[in-house]
Amino acid sequence: MTPALAIIGGTGLAALDTLTIIRRETVSTPYGEPSSPLLYGQWGERVVVFLARHGLQHTLPPHRINYRANLWALHRIGVKQIIAAAAVGGIRADMEPGALAFPDQIIDYTWGRPCTFFEDNLSQVTHIDFTEPYCPALRQSLIEAARALKLNARESCTYAAMQGPRLETAVEIRKLERDGCDIVGMTGMPEAALARELGLRYATCAVVANWAAGKAAGEITMADIERNLAGGMERLKALLAQVIPTLESI
Ligand code: HPA
Repeated sequence: MTPALAIIGGTGLAALDTLTIIRRETVSTPYGEPSSPLLYGQWGERVVVFLARHGLQHTLPPHRINYRANLWALHRIGVKQIIAAAAVGGIRADMEPGALAFPDQIIDYTWGRPCTFFEDNLSQVTHIDFTEPYCPALRQSLIEAARALKLNARESCTYAAMQGPRLETAVEIRKLERDGCDIVGMTGMPEAALARELGLRYATCAVVANWAAGKAAGEITMADIERNLAGGMERLKALLAQVIPTLESI
């Protein structure tokens, strides 16, 4: 059975224990190796594919992820829609650690990452429309599932994609805030744009891992991030269980 839906797991979601894995596939692509084998899982009647963005052992930093290989591999096996999990820092006052957020806009501050499929052997230069960087229908399904579970998710926000792997300075966060960004992460781009180039429906469920730099007293530690993510990821898994049966099989 062709899997129509993929879940890309980020920090805090290197495995999805709610998915019964029935097959692993190592896919090679013209762009190299994806971050992990594709894990095919049975979810009720459906087959859902899981890809660990940072690798199964969480060893790939954001700027080293082969986003093109990841998206290409999913497209090649027949995936049509992707729910991307993403750990983020919270900038807006209501983006406290543990909150779930569905971004509807992105500002891309990353650099030096291979960011398009449309560059070699072109018969014509191609510019995708990216006015709405996330699939509105898939976002709406996430929003409705979160409402049904009373998760109090933040339903509209702007995601700042930063280069990393370091966290930001306090002034960088103030600049992002002035730019209109509400949450900050390191992996949202070029992933979203590559999905659009391939015609995939793509939406992100962000989990706030920490207050962004300067938004709370003291240092941001990995231990704090991991602790905050644990609760958020449990809510994310509940959300997936709620939303997956509602998605049309396309
Ligand atoms: N900044 C950027 N990326 C992140 C953060 C952050 O504070 N937290 C989790 N991913």
